[in-house]
Amino acid sequence: MVINSKVLKNLNTYLLSAKVYFKEFILLDILVAIAILLLVEDSRITILLIILLFISSIIVLYLVGRRRDKELDEIKTIINNIRKNRYQSSDEIELSKSLVTLQREIKKMYRKTNDDIESLNKLQQVRSEFLANVSHELRTPIFAIQGFVETLLDGAINDPKVNKQFLGKANQHTISLSNLLNDLIDISMIESGEMKMSFRYFNIDDFLKRVVSEQSSLAETKNLELVYSPIRDSLQLYGDKDKLKQVVVNLLQNAIKYTEKGKVEVLVEEEKLYGKIIVRDTGIGIPPNDLDRIFERFYRVDKMRSRSVGGTGLGLAIVKHILEAHGTAMIVNSECNIGSEFSFKLKK
Ligand SMILES: Nc1ncnc2c1ncn2[C@@H]1O[C@H](COP(=O)(O)OP(=O)(O)OP(=O)(O)O)[C@@H](O)[C@H]1O
Ligand SMILES: [Mg+2]
Repeated sequence: MVINSKVLKNLNTYLLSAKVYFKEFILLDILVAIAILLLVEDSRITILLIILLFISSIIVLYLVGRRRDKELDEIKTIINNIRKNRYQSSDEIELSKSLVTLQREIKKMYRKTNDDIESLNKLQQVRSEFLANVSHELRTPIFAIQGFVETLLDGAINDPKVNKQFLGKANQHTISLSNLLNDLIDISMIESGEMKMSFRYFNIDDFLKRVVSEQSSLAETKNLELVYSPIRDSLQLYGDKDKLKQVVVNLLQNAIKYTEKGKVEVLVEEEKLYGKIIVRDTGIGIPPNDLDRIFERFYRVDKMRSRSVGGTGLGLAIVKHILEAHGTAMIVNSECNIGSEFSFKLKK
């Protein structure tokens, strides 16, 4: 009785599974029955053949249903395993031979989902690091300003020896705070795709003369020689002048910041299709291991040193984005204690 009910249950399940093919089977049965009726004259044989046709249809439907059920079970197991993260790699996903195409597609989907999850995790990590860095960088000048203001309020304001000095220092920190905020605004504009570029041909010689002369007083404060070697006056390069000014200013300020003696040089090398702008210094240089990382947000080779010269490590990250928008990239050559050379090409 138990066995019978199991067989009946299976029969029922598999026939239900094969339900999707019912229409095709009935159509086939009708066609074969018509053929029997037309070809066989003996009515007893006709009835027998039709009964046989009916029984064999049920058997075939049963077998088809059983196979379909098995395949669906396999697929369900795979989906379930994927959902429960039971696989270490896509190689573990295996379906029977008849489902090999589906297996390939499931593997592809599995790999794609895994890659997506990985990059989302990375993004999340970069975000939280960014937030931590921003808070840290904001805290430093705010605490310093707070310290000077409190000391002044506590009485130092009446001490002519220090009051101006403290106010000057507090002011210095408000300047770095505002520089940091400007850099952050730039980064967020770049990342949200809001940075509008306006490309034009411009006179590179005039441009560099002006930008370099604006930085000359900064070089003077460190007794550094700042030289610009002029290029032919008619040379026009293509780019967004305002954004490129930001690039060259950053390169010059870095060169001055990280150079103690010697000179900072700016020059243009003319090639057939491009003009190459070069900023060279005789400064501390960048260790080879750090060269790849200096364009990352907040990355500074020597954190203590950078802080003392007022850097947050956002400058080159912004520079990189601006050059990318120009379809070009920065090339860096540097040797410790000898100097660094930053250069990039612009279309003629
Ligand atoms: N000319 C250079 N010589 C030596 N080191 C450099 C030079 N330019 C950049 N670096 C190194 O690369 C790091 C990243 O430079 P970046 O311009 O992004 O940051 P920063 O100058 O420290 O700060 P910011 O530009 O945001 O004020 C610097 O902290 C410094 O360690
Ligand atoms: Mg900088």
